[in-house]
Amino acid sequence: MFTCTATIDPAFVIAPVPRRLFGSFVEHMGRCVYGGIYEPGHPESDVDGIRLDVVKLARELGVTTVRYPGGNFVSNHHWEDGVGPRDERPSTLDLAWRSIEPNTFGLNEFMAWTRQADVEPMMAVNLGTRGVEDACNLLEYANFAGGTRYSDLRKAHGVREPHDIKLWCLGNEMDGPWQVGQKTATEYGRLAAQTAKAMRRIDPSIELVACGSSNDRMPTFGTWEAEVLDQAYDAVDYVSLHAYFEQHGEDRVGFLASAQVMDHFIDGVVATCDHIAAKKRSRRKLMLSFDEWNLWYESRFAGQDRLDWMRAPRLIEDEYTVEDAVVLGNLLMSLLRHSDRVTIACLAQLVNVIAPIRTEPDAGAWRQTIFYPFALTARYARGDVLRVEPTSPALYSQTLGDVAAIDVAATRDPETGELTIFAVNRSDDQSADLRLRLVADGPAEVVEHTVFGGQDLLATNTKETPSRVEPRSSTGHTLDGTNLCLELPPVSWSMIRTAPPVSTANATSHCTGSRGQVAASRPAA
Ligand code: AHR
Repeated sequence: MFTCTATIDPAFVIAPVPRRLFGSFVEHMGRCVYGGIYEPGHPESDVDGIRLDVVKLARELGVTTVRYPGGNFVSNHHWEDGVGPRDERPSTLDLAWRSIEPNTFGLNEFMAWTRQADVEPMMAVNLGTRGVEDACNLLEYANFAGGTRYSDLRKAHGVREPHDIKLWCLGNEMDGPWQVGQKTATEYGRLAAQTAKAMRRIDPSIELVACGSSNDRMPTFGTWEAEVLDQAYDAVDYVSLHAYFEQHGEDRVGFLASAQVMDHFIDGVVATCDHIAAKKRSRRKLMLSFDEWNLWYESRFAGQDRLDWMRAPRLIEDEYTVEDAVVLGNLLMSLLRHSDRVTIACLAQLVNVIAPIRTEPDAGAWRQTIFYPFALTARYARGDVLRVEPTSPALYSQTLGDVAAIDVAATRDPETGELTIFAVNRSDDQSADLRLRLVADGPAEVVEHTVFGGQDLLATNTKETPSRVEPRSSTGHTLDGTNLCLELPPVSWSMIRTAPPVSTANATSHCTGSRGQVAASRPAA
């Protein structure tokens, strides 16, 4: 066992927890839409074909914002094909995933789904094969009250009130050679700025996201952001980041420390944005939209060019292990500690395609391992994110060099005084003894201690065993006055919550100092 220390001080506020940090992504790809959120005829579906078991899990997951309809899909998508009477909608070629798109689910169906799932929509426009005019038409259809060609078309399609969609992505991964309509940074920067200008004339209340690099390994990473923002800095509100993590070769430590890579990536994009702001003498701070992130065993994917024209093929339905969930929980900690700049993030994707929720036509929906740390973080990361600087021994990664063995993040709700601490131990052979000093203006008690990992690291949830893996509650803590000690098992993600005692009259007896014995401890929520 090794020992680490940290101080949790409510005065060290980074930023309020942005609720949009718990977003996800629904792309017309594989079985995310067809056979995922939408499956007419399935016993769990309603009369409109919406799978209610998936809606229920999306709500349980705590998803707040959902990006749609792509992804690479959007770059040759004609949104008009997906609205109006279903029997008049054409089947079309989706060039991104070499699939047949039936268009039986489109904008209005998605908007109805967002209301059922209680999420905010985040819409992407096609800047691959289309441009300014098409983006304006779509915005007019979606947000304009009425009395014009596209707003009246929406009404004719049975949607009287405007959708009032606030968040819009200006294309998707426009730097990628795989993207239909790929652009240079100069071409895209100008197009993004012009599209933004025109869209804001239609609806000045919208928020716009410019495409950053597809990932931080792109040869143009850094220069892409700088060139695009040179042209579009004043026209947009966010720049996007995308990242998918997997283990490379034998470097398990590097994989377990993926959050460190995410930290570094975010810091690089923040620096680039602020460099452009300085050049422009702008006092405006651009925010970051991490609108695709997850684990993806990309090395197992045959590639887009090998796909055959099918409807809703099974694409990248990765099955996640307990170890993957530990890494995912840690990635959320990275997002939290950057919440002063990253105010939108979307776990890609929501259902079946590299997703926390899985379905099968002949079964119900189930939770993958990665569902749990996401759901718990979305539920309990409340109030303000606090800056935490833990001491930690180093582990050696072949690709990253020295990485910290543990990571800690914390949030505190100033209204209730509830503190939520997230901690990850990346060591695969040693437990960590994490000693936290809580700076507090009153007594606290532990109300929940949940652990994920530490055992059965390769276990997964499947159609046959959908509940094999679940988080478990732990007694591996002591709270003695302001000293909170946690045992972090090897390769584990932990969440511990404290709150002021229900009655301050109980305050004198709340610390026992013995492992797992916290007097007046409330039952786990
Ligand atoms: O999420 C899968 C794909 O990954 C998206 O379509 C694309 O934007 C990214 O490359």
